[in-house]
Amino acid sequence: MAILPSKKKTYDTEGLKVPVSLGVIMDGNGRWAKKRLLPRSAGHRAGAENLKELCRNCGNYGVKYLTVYAFSTENWSRPEDEVHQLMELFIEFFDRYDAELEQEGIRLRFTGDIAGLPEKLQEVCKRGEERSKDRKKMTLIVAFNYGGRREIEYSVRRIAEKVKAGEIDPSDITEQMISDNLYLPDVPDPELIIRPSGEMRLSNFLLWESAYSEFWVSETLWPDFGYDDLTQAFRDYAKRDRRFGGLSEADKK
Ligand code: FPP
Repeated sequence: MAILPSKKKTYDTEGLKVPVSLGVIMDGNGRWAKKRLLPRSAGHRAGAENLKELCRNCGNYGVKYLTVYAFSTENWSRPEDEVHQLMELFIEFFDRYDAELEQEGIRLRFTGDIAGLPEKLQEVCKRGEERSKDRKKMTLIVAFNYGGRREIEYSVRRIAEKVKAGEIDPSDITEQMISDNLYLPDVPDPELIIRPSGEMRLSNFLLWESAYSEFWVSETLWPDFGYDDLTQAFRDYAKRDRRFGGLSEADKK
């Protein structure tokens, strides 16, 4: 496993750009475990440990919002055993590691169809949000029972209710209104999305919010994804020419 600079005091910021808002699809726990002849649950546990490291590194680099994909609306189709073990791991993680998150000044929030989670986990989410609400360094947003399409459906339904109540006319609907009715409208869209494990897809993660996100993929499996991978992602991101459908500065001249 990578040697993680947990106690690193200075971060190498030369030639890199740190996004304000970052998304990470934590993929590859199963393959990590398989390579070691371990059960998949061991991969998920190693993945959970690594989330702490990612938080520490992102916080120290100056990321303000880190959104991680922990459980999708499609993940319920995994074997019952694995789903159960994941839920137990989540319950354990957020209570047990809160002291560490507190030390790092990390606020905790959740996005997704939280009402569809087991009650015990919903309570953990509520508790975590409540006790961390005054922390300022970085916000960790955990996507639980999350699906980008489900989130857009949620926004559209809220807007439809306003139309039905006569508060707005269909012609008043704008892109901004759809953004404003998503789960966490105050969280900025991610400038960069990182996906370890080599897959080149979004898998229903932040579909609306990622319209202009840069995408960065690495072969490293999530439990091994460390400081060096993150630094490389920020270095490559610094070289991207974000045009938002327009022209680059050089081409405008
Ligand atoms: C994808 O790996 C990972 C998941 C579906 C679960 C993500 C969960 C964690 C990283 C655990 C920690 C999270 C929190 C919030 C404590 P996979 O099982 O799809 O891997 P594979 O593609 O190699 O099979």
